[in-house]
Amino acid sequence: MSANPSKVLVAGGAGFIGSHLVDRLLGRPDVGRLVVVDNLWTGARENLAHVDDGRFALAVTDVERFATEERFDEIYQLASPASPQWYMSDPVRTISANVMGTMRLLDLLAPGGRICFTSTSEVYGDPLVTPQPESYRGSVDCTGPRSSYDEGKRCTEALLSEVARVHGTDVRIARLFNVYGPRTKPDDGRAISNFITSALSGEPITIYGDGLQSRSWGYVDDIIDGLEKLFWSVPHGYAGPVNIGNDREVPVLTVAQYVASLIPGARIVHGEPAPQDPSNRCPDLTLARSLLPGWSCEIPYEEGVRRTLEWFAARLSPPAAEGGATPDPGA
Ligand SMILES: NC(=O)c1ccc[n+]([C@@H]2O[C@H](COP(=O)([O-])OP(=O)(O)OC[C@H]3O[C@@H](n4cnc5c(N)ncnc54)[C@H](O)[C@@H]3O)[C@@H](O)[C@H]2O)c1
Repeated sequence: MSANPSKVLVAGGAGFIGSHLVDRLLGRPDVGRLVVVDNLWTGARENLAHVDDGRFALAVTDVERFATEERFDEIYQLASPASPQWYMSDPVRTISANVMGTMRLLDLLAPGGRICFTSTSEVYGDPLVTPQPESYRGSVDCTGPRSSYDEGKRCTEALLSEVARVHGTDVRIARLFNVYGPRTKPDDGRAISNFITSALSGEPITIYGDGLQSRSWGYVDDIIDGLEKLFWSVPHGYAGPVNIGNDREVPVLTVAQYVASLIPGARIVHGEPAPQDPSNRCPDLTLARSLLPGWSCEIPYEEGVRRTLEWFAARLSPPAAEGGATPDPGA
């Protein structure tokens, strides 16, 4: 371990992306302590069950109310549902997790420490420009059904940008586009995991709308590579938001058809379009490529879907042998 091991806090670390980030952080020998703060609203202890490391601790509580005398050198703020059905179900809690959560985390930052935030492509709303560069200010309905999430993220970006400007705090902001992969909750409600869990359970794959709306699907390992570079491993010193995602746009219908082709008997049905579902999302990665040389999303959706399907299939099928633990292919 290095002479001055870092104290690290990951808010939302029991969630899908957070738990993968925790794995990556624990691979660093200079991390001396890593505390996950998570209220398990949309996360699960199981996502961290494989962690067997004396440096690790889990505090099950709202990040806004996390009480501690400790101060942290690096803080990663991921605490927020990302799935529309979850954030729309409790908008006050969603705004609180992002805005109040980040305000609390700023109190816990050691002098000279760094705070990193996972914002979202939803700050672009239903974009009138494609692909979306960071300079695009978005087309967001600030009182619409997605506003708790979109505006919660926008306000948190404002908060962190101002703290960087006025106090010189070391801030990193990633605008993530659609991420998928192992450890998504089966009832998370987002497209790829929904398609897979429905088809594996013998239910029809439901596409909301015609399915021609496109997304840039980023497999979680590629996204964690980008976050690692943006947040700690590349010394770029840039405080503004940076798009992190896959710039290969693929229609929702194409992905659903691919999932259906892998699962015998799977069929596709169409439901009512989701409220204010954007017609397209695609990151302009010019800034990411200049700040984070060598980074790009390498895993095509076909490969990522197969890996995700394998993980869900292992979870959703009954254990093969008595007493046998189910391996975690996502670990
Ligand atoms: N998954 C994506 O496609 C995507 C896209 C853009 C941005 N993001 C952002 O990345 C982050 C992680 O997303 P995810 O997909 O892993 O979602 P997730 O729902 O799996 O994880 C979020 C975690 O935060 C926890 N949490 C929520 N409110 C909390 C609170 N008040 N206090 C403590 N913990 C709280 C949840 O229990 C969960 O473990 C979120 O901030 C999300 O907005 C995700």
